[in-house]
This record gives sequence, C-alpha cells and structure tokens, in this order.
Amino acid sequence: MTAPQPLIAGNWKMNGLTASLAEARAVAEGVGATRARVAICPPAVLIHQMADALAGTPVLVGGQDSHEEEAGAFTGDISAAMLADVGARLVILGHSERRAGYRETDGRVARKVVAALRAGLEPIVCVGETLEERKAGQALAVVTGQVRGSLPSELAGHRFSVAYEPVWAIGTGLTPTTPEIEEMHRAIRATLVESFGPAARAVPILYGGSVKPSNAEEILAADEVGGALVGGASLKASDFLAIVKAAG
Ligand code: PGA
Repeated sequence: MTAPQPLIAGNWKMNGLTASLAEARAVAEGVGATRARVAICPPAVLIHQMADALAGTPVLVGGQDSHEEEAGAFTGDISAAMLADVGARLVILGHSERRAGYRETDGRVARKVVAALRAGLEPIVCVGETLEERKAGQALAVVTGQVRGSLPSELAGHRFSVAYEPVWAIGTGLTPTTPEIEEMHRAIRATLVESFGPAARAVPILYGGSVKPSNAEEILAADEVGGALVGGASLKASDFLAIVKAAG
C-alpha cells in the first residue's frame, strides 16, 4: 500500500486582513515542485478573495470551522455549503480551540463532518490530549476515543485527514518527542483501520502543534506522519514554504 500523499495545511486562526492575501500569493508563487498538497485556511471572510487569488495555482483554500446545519437561525455561524460556495475545498473541524472554547463534543464534530461532506468539503478532523491527560497516562485512550467519536461512518470512501494536535504543543513552542508522535500516529492509524478497514491506510495523519521550519523535517519524516497542520508558522510565506519543502 502506498503512503498517503502528504497534506501541509496552514491554519491562520483569527489572523489576517485583506492585506495578508499577499502572503497567500507568495506561497502560491514559491510552492514549486512538491509531493505535498498545500492548503491555507484563512479567516472565513478572506476565503472568497483568497480562492480567487489562488485560482489556477496548486494551493487550496479551506475553512477553520463550519456548522452542522445547512442553514437556519444560528447567528454568527457559517455553514459548510457557504464555505464551499465561496471557494473553500477543505475545512478544519474539531480544532482544540473550538473543543475547549465552544465546548464542541465528539458528537458535534461528527455531525459537522457529515455536513461538510454533504457540501463537498474535505474535512481535516483534529484530535489531541491536554497536558493533564498526558501526565495521567491517558493520552492514547483520549485521542483514540476522540478518533472513534469524531469520525462518522459517512467518511468511508471520501477524502479526509486526521490532525493529531496535542493541546499543550499548540502555540507553545513545545513538541512531543519523535517516538511520542510515532506512538500516537500508529495508534490513530490502528483505530482508523479498525473503523474504516484497510482503505484507511491512505488517510493522511497530520501532526500539528509548534511545527516550524527548524523541526519540520524531523517531524514529517516520522513514521505515520502524513503532513502538518501549521498555525503560527503559516502566517509568514517564507516559513510556511520552508515547511512545505521539508515534506519533499
Ligand atoms: P501552532 O498551531 O502551529 O501555532 O502551534 C497549530 C494549530 O493550532 O493548528
């Protein structure tokens, strides 16, 4: 079975104004030959313009979240169909900042995944343990539980990825050791194969949490690491491109 094609996705979080579209253009101009798929997930209000700016380039545009309903009285929320309508191809779902800050449960994330698939979006489903959970020796159980609870059976046959993002590694500069990353990614792979059968070997399992140019090569070379979800280092085109380059 061939290894999954890596995905390097930038998560801009709540950063970026229209002037930042220049960074996205610089990524598209510098991306060159790579075996990775490359995506940028800007704030929702920038998706339309970014999708237009990157049309005809290999760089894909994604959202950072979408609602589980198609439409309705949900003030401030955005549906998956709306993201797709303005040019998004992917969507991050279940990011730990949404799980913690908006109390998104595995069940809700799973419903969002179903809605995203219905809109034709490719989900990037995030999982990850807190520092307390790791210290208590529960990291593997927590994360494999999130994988089981957040990935609905509807994903079978669709293109999607899972992002392992230890909460304590996000935005902190801390990263797990390579053996710790590999242990977790193997456990996620086993859980995916259990749920979706051997076809799940083609699902990229991204690592996220303080990925930067200086550690990208080692992380991306680790067993079962099929790409990266990059926060802070995706805001500068030169840093993000260095990470893409590390994917080969
Ligand atoms: P970071 O964020 O790269 O800034 O740690 C990663 C993420 O939250 O996706």
